[in-house]
Amino acid sequence: MSRYAIVTTAPDFLQRLTEAASGVLEGEIHSWLGSAFPTGAQELVAQLPDPRLLDVLILGPGVPLDDALQLADEFEVQFPEVSVLLTTTPTPSVVLSAMRAGIRDVVEPDADVAGLSVLLHRATRSAAIRRRSASLSSGDTAGSANGRVIAVVSPKGGAGKTTVASNLAVGLAAAAPHATVLVDLDLQFGDVASALTIAPDHSVTDAVHGPARRDTMVLKSFLSAHPTGLFALCAPDLPDAVDQVTGEDVSHLLDQLASQYRYVVVDTSPGLSEHTLAALDKATDYVFVSGMDVPSVRGLRKELDVLRELALIPITRHIVLNNADQRDGLTIADVEKALNVKVDIVIPSSRAVRLSTNQGAPLLENKRRDPASKALRKLLLRFAPPVAVTKSKGHGRHRGGKK
Ligand SMILES: Nc1ncnc2c1ncn2[C@@H]1O[C@H](COP(=O)(O)OP(=O)(O)OP(=O)(O)O)[C@@H](O)[C@H]1O
Ligand SMILES: [Mg+2]
Repeated sequence: MSRYAIVTTAPDFLQRLTEAASGVLEGEIHSWLGSAFPTGAQELVAQLPDPRLLDVLILGPGVPLDDALQLADEFEVQFPEVSVLLTTTPTPSVVLSAMRAGIRDVVEPDADVAGLSVLLHRATRSAAIRRRSASLSSGDTAGSANGRVIAVVSPKGGAGKTTVASNLAVGLAAAAPHATVLVDLDLQFGDVASALTIAPDHSVTDAVHGPARRDTMVLKSFLSAHPTGLFALCAPDLPDAVDQVTGEDVSHLLDQLASQYRYVVVDTSPGLSEHTLAALDKATDYVFVSGMDVPSVRGLRKELDVLRELALIPITRHIVLNNADQRDGLTIADVEKALNVKVDIVIPSSRAVRLSTNQGAPLLENKRRDPASKALRKLLLRFAPPVAVTKSKGHGRHRGGKK
């Protein structure tokens, strides 16, 4: 079994890496020490005993930086489930280039065995989760009881979480009707019901207590149906109901829903409440939403740091800059530099979004061609293959229904 591949000219680095992997990790290391470097991703994997098993590629000392970045770029496109590590001195410009090439971590050439072991663990875990996410997106749920749980979060209020979550959920429902549920975890001031124009009979509070907690069929009957084929579990009407729901309730609820639906999209309140942390703990994907202003970006940077400290490291992470207008003085490159991570999606400031909020109809309910819809569809493609989005019939208020 060959789960690790290393390209290097440095025997001492290979020795440390072998020590780091042995005993703690399953699998062997395949190295090209002493033989010609493979020049492309296809050529590299073709030389492995079993290419399907490759989890981590280490571009070690001796590989010229440009070649390493080129190879990482090819892996990002052709073998996105493989975690690529780069060995180099991490100057800010190198880290930025590495990040853009999809490199998972930058390793100092003189990293010790313990440090390398931590990095290998992280990279292996990341590869496993990416494989799982890929198989869920392709609809291959055989052997996996759980759907994909997508938590939409932001440190600041009004960043566009509900806009992003409701559009993503409607888009996913079009791709997989009756297989997507949107949960409003903004328990005090949630507005998913308003974003979708639904009048729910039941809320999250009802779902976490009583029979729905014990019986998934009852829980399903508490969901509200939307004409697009989406189900929603809305926030309670009264803000003080927040005290009746614990983090443990949220964990249990998300487990139940993920056992029944391919996609569970979770809208959250601003910041890192007990409920949001419970959702992040269960999530396969984190969608971070930020405005394109200095306080929002700083807030997101802090949030990423806190999550890292809590070991809630976003493995499948999507960074969305919303309400973005580059005329306001910040560029995407400025934001990426401040965050030290790549921005994945940029949703422009748009009147169409404001209108859709006021009308209670997410943009992706219809085939629209405006720039904000395009950006939202690009985000959707990160989760589901493209499908024709059909216009929903009528949009009057409707009651919740059973699955
Ligand atoms: N790209 C955009 N262009 C213009 N307006 C936008 C955009 N994204 C969101 N908005 C508007 O900003 C307001 C807040 O958006 P939204 O409710 O999605 O944010 P939120 O993060 O869920 O807020 P809260 O933290 O209060 O839950 C809404 O009126 C929405 O229409
Ligand atoms: Mg909201």
